[in-house]
Amino acid sequence: MARWPALIALLLASHALAAGPDPAAGEYLFRAAGCANCHTDREHGGAPLAGGRKLATPLGDFYTPNITPDPDTGLGRWREADFRRALREGRGPDGRHYYPSFPYAAYTHLSDADIGALWAYLRTVPPVRQANRPHALPWYLQPRPLLVGWKRLYFHPGSYVPDPRKDATWNRGAYLVQAVAHCAECHTPRNRLGGFRVGLYLAGDKAGAEGGLVPNITPDKATGIGRWSRGELIDYLKTGMRPDGDSAGGLMAEVIDNGLSRLTPQDIEAIATYVQSVPPVVHAVRPAEAKSAQDEFEY
Ligand code: HEC
Ligand code: HEC
Repeated sequence: MARWPALIALLLASHALAAGPDPAAGEYLFRAAGCANCHTDREHGGAPLAGGRKLATPLGDFYTPNITPDPDTGLGRWREADFRRALREGRGPDGRHYYPSFPYAAYTHLSDADIGALWAYLRTVPPVRQANRPHALPWYLQPRPLLVGWKRLYFHPGSYVPDPRKDATWNRGAYLVQAVAHCAECHTPRNRLGGFRVGLYLAGDKAGAEGGLVPNITPDKATGIGRWSRGELIDYLKTGMRPDGDSAGGLMAEVIDNGLSRLTPQDIEAIATYVQSVPPVVHAVRPAEAKSAQDEFEY
């Protein structure tokens, strides 16, 4: 019967897809992880993933590197093991330590399969020849061995370990928030050494990424998003529309437009489930809230 060879071919094809890392899955993760937001200098019409975007931080200005497969200026000579080491350990092929402005403290929690998919996708993007621009940092922050100290204090390598007491949706949400979309990288305030401040997970920062205000997204009713319904949070993550009718601005608009808005409804629901489950933290970042909350605005 003619049907059988077709069926076998189909089975073989689906097996091949399941076996090797899938660039389409990598592209999906790539968006969710916001890699292109940092590695493309959109403001100056830069080529996709060729780097050169300036990241202004209180420590100095970082310029993202070229991660296209160009052999001389990008990752063309990298092996998959080099890429795994960069994301998992925050180290380059030559052993140098990366600055945490590359959010590997989050990406270290990615699964082996997802790192493989990201790598498979990265190999498919057009190579662009564009040399990296050195970071503009004060002299005392230039020696990379200093980063060993930072890592010892604040870096906890290893892929995400599901919490057996929680269901699959919650665990998917925790994985997306902690490992992929790295929400805490912006929404958790840092101390002077660039480590997360204890007890303020997702509690916002009045002068966070690029010096702007980053809201408290814990379920505290006065200073966080405790008054948002689940549906309101889901709508915001999909479209950027706040319950009060305002739309997301600044860096969050990028996170939504280039990333979250393209995720499956299930993944957005998982993120909302997890975010609404974190401990509420009283932490006022907007001046108007400080008056009503018991928290001190200055810290
Ligand atoms: C918040 C901005 C930001 C995001 C998001 C980001 N990166 Fe980066 N990335 C950087 C910076 C800055 C560096 C340079 C770090 C350094 O010089 O120590 C870097 C370095 C790298 C390197 C090392 C390149 C080299 O030449 O050594 C790789 C690989 C990389 N990023 C891949 C990714 C991937 C894949 C993603 C998404 C999963 C991603 N990055 C997301 C900012 C970012
Ligand atoms: C690159 C930095 C960055 C990342 C990453 C990021 N956010 Fe945001 N987020 C912001 C900024 C900045 C705002 C304020 C936007 C504005 O001014 O309209 C914001 C606003 C929000 C708000 C609205 C809160 C309010 O009170 O208006 C929610 C909810 C939110 N983010 C959730 C998330 C979640 C969930 C993630 C991860 C999936 C995430 N954010 C990742 C920077 C970030």
